[in-house]
Amino acid sequence: MCAYRIAVIEGDGIGPEVVPVAISVVQRAADIFGFSVEFRGYRAGDSALAELGEALPEETIQGVRSSDAAIKGPVGETAKDVIVRLRQMFDLYANLRPAKVYPGVRPLMDGVDILIVRENTEDLYKGYEFELPGSAVALKVVTERASRRIAEYAFREAERRRKHVTIVHKSNVMPKTDGLFGRVAKEVASSHPGVSYREMYVDAASMALIRDPRSFDVLLTMNVYGDILSDEAAQVVGGLGMAPSANIGEKMALFEPVHGSAPDIAGKGLANPYATVLSAAMMLDWLSQAKGDPRLEKASKLVESAAVTALRRGIATPDLGGKYKTSEVGKGLEAVMVELGG
Ligand code: NAI
Ligand code: MG
Repeated sequence: MCAYRIAVIEGDGIGPEVVPVAISVVQRAADIFGFSVEFRGYRAGDSALAELGEALPEETIQGVRSSDAAIKGPVGETAKDVIVRLRQMFDLYANLRPAKVYPGVRPLMDGVDILIVRENTEDLYKGYEFELPGSAVALKVVTERASRRIAEYAFREAERRRKHVTIVHKSNVMPKTDGLFGRVAKEVASSHPGVSYREMYVDAASMALIRDPRSFDVLLTMNVYGDILSDEAAQVVGGLGMAPSANIGEKMALFEPVHGSAPDIAGKGLANPYATVLSAAMMLDWLSQAKGDPRLEKASKLVESAAVTALRRGIATPDLGGKYKTSEVGKGLEAVMVELGG
């Protein structure tokens, strides 16, 4: 039986604490549903830079290239040289960031279930920055092609959900770049008559996320706004420790928690592994569709429902008010998986 090859980048800070939990959970799901997974570890991040002289070594790039999918922990100050490069190198154009209320967390409001669909390859994060005497300039790049494919992605996702898209930009101030994004998104909307939509400027959207988060289903936005709004949405539903994400391209996908390396709590067993575990569940779901293997979809659903059950039982780290250490959450979660699906 051929194994699914997963590239694993533990990263920095709490990465080496949360990623092994997600790997064990995926391995447990593979055991339960009878598929096999081969995990191969690669280095990236601040520690790779310090020890190997490069934040993103060539071996890591080749490792990701030759895998079916990748799972990545957070990296530290080298995030730009690692994740932003990987997104552009593998054209991982769709950044999916669900913000959903799970049991046992302390959200600002119950019942919130938002999917942020963020364009992941251009905008100001293209990295075209220049220094001039006494000033600095960054180029904001927005193409029709990238805007169209991310809008298509968002409207297709909405069809599988509550059938509503909020298109977020700031075209009143940036009529050329954001105007293009908004215009293309509305063209795409017209080819999805079963999905309703509204448009919001990003400042109004950031307020609406606090005031009325339940009014959002899919939130479609540009790269920089999506970065900022997704941390905000994560806090609305209970914090960064619960926020997973996917970076999806045509052939490759990379899954990682939204949070960073959390140096303030690293090495103490305090890190919440659910964000990385839920990212792994998104990976199983994507692989199931990419490979046409229904066992992986079942595995994804089991991981998610085990997380719900475990959280309901208070199997959680201190950020959620629990008493469990990172690795103990992993053990508890695996026991629930066996109970529900084994
Ligand atoms: P951060 O997300 O690392 O931490 C923000 C706050 O949330 C901290 O108080 C932290 O303890 C807490 N937190 C984060 N994840 C948690 C978890 N799983 N469980 C419990 N508490 C958690 O953001 P910060 O401090 O702005 O960045 C730290 C480093 O991470 C920086 O060097 C930054 O460049 C990097 N970073 C990397 C990212 C990536 O690899 N994709 C994304 C964001 C930041
Ligand atoms: Mg961010």
